[in-house]
Amino acid sequence: METFAAHPVPAHVPPDMIGDFSLFTSPGMAPTPNGDPQAASAVVHGGPPIFYSPVNTRDGRGTWVITRAQDQRRVLQDPESFSSHRSIFASALGESWPMIPLELDPPEHGKFRSLLNPLLSPKRVMALETAVRERSAFLIDRIAAAGTSCDVMKDFAFPFAVNIFLRFLGLPDDRLDEFVGWANDLFHGDNAKRPAAARKIIAFIDDLAAQRRAQSVDDFMSFLVQSKIDDRPLTDAEIRGTGVLLFVAGLDTVAAAIGFDLNYLARHVDDQRLLRGDPSRIVLAAEELLRAYPTVQMIRVATKDVDFEGAPIRKGDYVSCATMIANRDPAEFDHPERIDLAREDNRHTAFAYGPHRCLGSHLARREIVVALEEWLKRIPDFRIKEGTAPVTYGGHVFGIENLILDWS
Ligand code: HEM
Repeated sequence: METFAAHPVPAHVPPDMIGDFSLFTSPGMAPTPNGDPQAASAVVHGGPPIFYSPVNTRDGRGTWVITRAQDQRRVLQDPESFSSHRSIFASALGESWPMIPLELDPPEHGKFRSLLNPLLSPKRVMALETAVRERSAFLIDRIAAAGTSCDVMKDFAFPFAVNIFLRFLGLPDDRLDEFVGWANDLFHGDNAKRPAAARKIIAFIDDLAAQRRAQSVDDFMSFLVQSKIDDRPLTDAEIRGTGVLLFVAGLDTVAAAIGFDLNYLARHVDDQRLLRGDPSRIVLAAEELLRAYPTVQMIRVATKDVDFEGAPIRKGDYVSCATMIANRDPAEFDHPERIDLAREDNRHTAFAYGPHRCLGSHLARREIVVALEEWLKRIPDFRIKEGTAPVTYGGHVFGIENLILDWS
């Protein structure tokens, strides 16, 4: 189990600005059967625009919490005051190198972003579409042939997301189960399993880079080891930082999104029927589901003292811009608690805002839409299997476990 050894609240935080809320420990955030952690995070909208949460990271740190979407955009667009340099992955190993481009600030960030943008452009994603569709159809056909029930996360969402990631990297499928295991240990393992999983991912990325240096093929890693920034090749640390980010960025997030979407649909058979009857609605519906069930808490680190809406943020303080909070802001969305699969003008921030806007958003959207299309095409009215309760959890990346559906 997680341990949340709270760090002391810094002296500069006024006691009346301390809020009783945490994306890790508040009701609905710790693992909860049949939970709805995104809805549970909306309680903050009744309070001030900013407060201090004493335990709001995996390692028990406090963060300021920005509760209004508009203020989150201010933070995310001001990397000079709010830096992305945090070493989330490396800190699991007691190290401090950045994942790239996620944990770099401008101007360095922009150089890597320009290098990587074309790899996940809409055109590139279109080229992956056939593989995405074939893979989801294969997995769902296998599920349908096996009976009238399955565990969505284990049988579909994870093997689907990992397979697409491997294709993106240009790798075969034969180590898929092993990678799913690493991702599981890294994201959901206890403090003993996490460093071991991190080391395996690093060893895998380093080894792949060495192989592609020795012999180049037409894939992502060959591209990376041959790339130049400022007229020089990437360093080993930069290649590792980029490879590790791409390994972790697309796995848990896409799988969790598919899980939350099917969990919602399992409880709203009318909406299943609506989408099954008119699949052209799925693209818009997927946006609403991204709004209602976003998964990523973004954290920034103050680079200087800033007074923000009356809060004395001091250099080094962590500032949380949680997408689940922004996406349920009543100032931004009419009836944010209502899930309306035909909602238009959906300016949600599931894929962030500002310079770090998700590089994989085109691919993620395609994966989600295709997964829903193929699922609804093949699986008749489905519900949560009686006697089971999917467990949801909050944290840095919200997720869902053991989503057992039944269509008998
Ligand atoms: C539903 C699925 C996904 C969600 C909700 C999501 C969300 C996000 C968010 C909120 C950020 C900003 C994080 C921050 O600034 O701290 C981000 C960044 C990023 N995402 Fe995604 N993501 C998803 C899927 C993917 C996929 C499939 C890939 C890659 C194949 C990917 C690659 C990246 C990368 C490389 C960044 C860093 C961008 C930068 O720093 O410039 N993501 N994502």
